[in-house]
Amino acid sequence: MAKYKIAWLPGDGIGIEVLKAARLVLNKLELSADYLHADIGWEFWCREGDPFPQRTIDLLKNVDAAVFGAITSKPIKAAEAELAPALKGTGLIYRSPIVRLRQLFDLYICLRPCKAYPGNPLNYKAGINLVIFRENTEDLYSGVEFHPVPQQLSEALRRLSPPFSGFGHLRSDQYAVSCKINTRKASQQIVRAAFEFARKYGRRKVTVVHKANVVRATDGLFLEVAREVAGGYPEITWEDANIDAITMWLLKNPLSYDVLVAPNLYGDIISDLCAQMVGGLGFGCSGNIGDRLAVFEPTHGSAPKYAGQYKVNPIATILAAKMMLEWLGETQKAQRLEEGVAEVIGEGKVRTYDMGGSNSTLELGSGAPYDLH
Ligand code: NAI
Ligand code: MG
Repeated sequence: MAKYKIAWLPGDGIGIEVLKAARLVLNKLELSADYLHADIGWEFWCREGDPFPQRTIDLLKNVDAAVFGAITSKPIKAAEAELAPALKGTGLIYRSPIVRLRQLFDLYICLRPCKAYPGNPLNYKAGINLVIFRENTEDLYSGVEFHPVPQQLSEALRRLSPPFSGFGHLRSDQYAVSCKINTRKASQQIVRAAFEFARKYGRRKVTVVHKANVVRATDGLFLEVAREVAGGYPEITWEDANIDAITMWLLKNPLSYDVLVAPNLYGDIISDLCAQMVGGLGFGCSGNIGDRLAVFEPTHGSAPKYAGQYKVNPIATILAAKMMLEWLGETQKAQRLEEGVAEVIGEGKVRTYDMGGSNSTLELGSGAPYDLH
């Protein structure tokens, strides 16, 4: 019997292609795993009215880890237009499966390493090796949003003292409210994960990103929690930085940073910035990690214009597979995989279009993974 059960969720577009490439690499490493194909994505929305069917949720409850490709998402009206005729007008609303997945399984850590592999022509600067811990379940992504603003909320705002009460006097469609909700628990979990990582891997510094001088309640809490947690790791240097300033400093001195931890939205922003500094979307890998389940994915989407061409860079997904191996405790295999990636990048003989080459992932080989549906 195989040692691991791994859910395999290709999704849409190039998600299907990059997962095939990653699977070929995992097969070469002879990981003892059963890969369980699971349905997710646009096709299932159109056909069944649910891009994340219950059978996929059930399957995810019984696996050790999952690898996810990418999905196509469209705005609510455009999504409804593509539903099967029998499902049209039934009130079904499209919701992003990946956001649902993170919340449903409480995958509270979003881990995004950004490393400049030597020889990558897309590197912004040699030696960049940043690791981002992004809170993954709340903050401005909590989904508590209002437009038009309901009466009870307008009334509550009107009861505040000026100038805050002014919003409550506006007509309900003349303003919108998106709640930034940050809990002590999730803030603690993400900051602790960053410090634990720094301790485990001998990282020199943790930078806590926030905007507590302006967003005083939520980011103030985040910073307060960070201070408390940092107290438990006296051997690790830490600092805090404002989200606006850090984007400038990261560009100016990327080598001065190491581990960064941030609430959801700021984490999203800095992880795109950092991914671009090490080669862009073809290199951005990500782990959505909870206590029981972890789902690994490239950060890019389904890139419909390249779908079916097998020309996009599979490295992001292969590095996501490496993160999965680490999470499973398969450190030697993870190291071999990373050495392989580093060698290919360093040699510069095989390159996808984004790196200035014209190789196709079909050249990686044929056989089992490419026969997958
Ligand atoms: P995208 O990430 O799919 O692609 C944008 C562009 O980036 C592509 O046209 C291509 O030029 C480049 N690119 C992406 N992946 C690459 C790779 N591996 N190698 C080389 N170049 C690569 O973003 P876009 O076009 O905004 O969204 C397309 C669809 O994907 C949308 O439906 C969107 O909602 C969805 N999406 C899904 C995500 C997910 O599944 N986690 C994340 C982002 C977008
Ligand atoms: Mg993003």
